[in-house]
Amino acid sequence: MFFPDELIEDIRMKNDIVDVIGGYVKLKKQGSTYFGLCPFHNEKSPSFSVTPSKQMYYCFGCGEGGNVITFIMKYENYSFVEAVEMLAEKAGVELPKAEYSKEAKERADLRKAILEANKEAAKYYYHMLKTEHGSMAYRYLRGRDLSDETITRFGLGYSDKVSSDLYAYMKNKGFQDNILKETGLFTYDERGVVDKFFNRVMFPIMDVNNRVIAFGGRVMGDGKPKYLNSPETKVFDKSRNLYGLNVARTSRKNYLLICEGYMDVISLHQAGFNNAVAALGTSFTSGHASLIKRYAKEVVLTFDSDEAGKKAAMRAIPILKGAGIAVKVLDMKPYKDPDEFIKALGPQAYEERINNATNYFVFEVGQIMQQYDLTDPQGKTDFHNQVAQMLLEFPDEIERINYIEAVSGIYGIPKDALDKLVKRKALTYTPGSEKTKSPEEINKVKKIAEDGTLKAQKILITWIIEEPELFSVVSEYISPEDFVDPFYREVAEIFWKQLKNGEVNPAKIIDHFVSEEEHKKAAGLFNSPLSDKLTLSEKERALNDTILKIKKNSLDYQAANAKDIAQMQKIIVEQTKLQKIYIRL
Ligand code: UTP
Ligand code: MN
Repeated sequence: MFFPDELIEDIRMKNDIVDVIGGYVKLKKQGSTYFGLCPFHNEKSPSFSVTPSKQMYYCFGCGEGGNVITFIMKYENYSFVEAVEMLAEKAGVELPKAEYSKEAKERADLRKAILEANKEAAKYYYHMLKTEHGSMAYRYLRGRDLSDETITRFGLGYSDKVSSDLYAYMKNKGFQDNILKETGLFTYDERGVVDKFFNRVMFPIMDVNNRVIAFGGRVMGDGKPKYLNSPETKVFDKSRNLYGLNVARTSRKNYLLICEGYMDVISLHQAGFNNAVAALGTSFTSGHASLIKRYAKEVVLTFDSDEAGKKAAMRAIPILKGAGIAVKVLDMKPYKDPDEFIKALGPQAYEERINNATNYFVFEVGQIMQQYDLTDPQGKTDFHNQVAQMLLEFPDEIERINYIEAVSGIYGIPKDALDKLVKRKALTYTPGSEKTKSPEEINKVKKIAEDGTLKAQKILITWIIEEPELFSVVSEYISPEDFVDPFYREVAEIFWKQLKNGEVNPAKIIDHFVSEEEHKKAAGLFNSPLSDKLTLSEKERALNDTILKIKKNSLDYQAANAKDIAQMQKIIVEQTKLQKIYIRL
């Protein structure tokens, strides 16, 4: 779904931010700003601000911020499109009908029919569990310590031994073959139609809206395969669903527990950890990560204790970190998985393991360490080098120092030596010198060097928002291309355009970005408290510093990418000019 910018702007204008947020948070006017208790973190005194002139909100406590669309995304757990749709409806704005083309409508109808059929099948399996036929399955589940309440909550069921009896039931209920074929619950061939699930305990898989989208079935014993799962269908995308998320999303905890299997999720929920979800044997994808991101900022991985589980964790960590999610890893030794752990040691012991979960980076280093022979001086040196390389991932110095301290303590690496090694690696780095480096790694190293100029780029934008009259002087020296960071450049491009038209509309700039993360970053720009206590000359010096830093970084960047001598000469002239710039306020 694509909405034109003007339409989004229109919807936003018709939803005054104070009215909308006022419907969720009790706001009190203080001067030109409204304040209330932040709905995104726990607090006792109000640091959540809503500014009508900017049409933005910002929490000085937790840093959440954005415009009215961001707020709805965040508060209601909506996607950008869902938030726009809701606000459009609220304001009575008609959305383009393009999405509801004939094909789209047919697609939507088909999905609805499949979901309907799935729901009926789930009811049937559930019913079967309580009959004579299902008594063995029921005993199996009770034998695994599941209570009746848990069985009901997860809608567990039984698929009968009598082949094709779900099919007969569904036909009897009036479902047509064209729909039944799409459910993945039946095998169609020349000989006829047979049920796919046969004499198994059934686990309906639900999406976040509690709709049954697929099933898993377990043999009651040692048969193979242990679990049989629905194939992907028009309503089931394995890489975008997590088992248990329909319940976990309503949990009041601010992190999710991620485990491997059906029984792990169910046991955890039964033990009171109703924030557990599972990717169900499929490898963890970025689709899973962005789904998680909508509900939690932090996860604790509680994968199986075996090698496969460790490997799965190593693969999931970068995907989660890439989505901006904090990660910890829980150790269940000597037990295999959460189900067995809880059965053996109980919820309290598990809670302790959560509290002692390992920081993801420390876990990674521990895993990598096993690849080296530490009794050999060369092996040890290689290991230290690899750890130093890994530490480059932290562009922020304080964070890096903290990690150096942590891993050197835990793994017995001399701290000062490690610190020096990391610094050397960051300094000696020149673009393209290491062909083996992945683009992400190159970016990480660049980031360390750009730390300071990044701040300057941010400050300058914030400054002009606060004092638009500075724009005429600043724009003489700085253009949007001078912002080397892609995000700030994009903001600068839109902002510079606005300022040239004599307009300052921060909320409109935010609309330009789709992800919550970007909204938040942009809102941070527009609400950072600036030091207005500076004297005029201090301010002048700070402004010059900032502009110089940005310009110098921009020219360095251009020089590194110059294509010919002429271009290089031009850059040198600019660099010389740069030394003479001094702006007077
Ligand atoms: P496990 O083999 O670890 O099973 O598979 P488990 O969760 O401990 O199951 P129980 O306790 O023996 O009943 C983890 C997950 O991988 C998927 C399932 O989703 C399972 O929960 N899996 C496993 C399959 O899809 N098929 C299989 O044959 C095995
Ligand atoms: Mn298990």
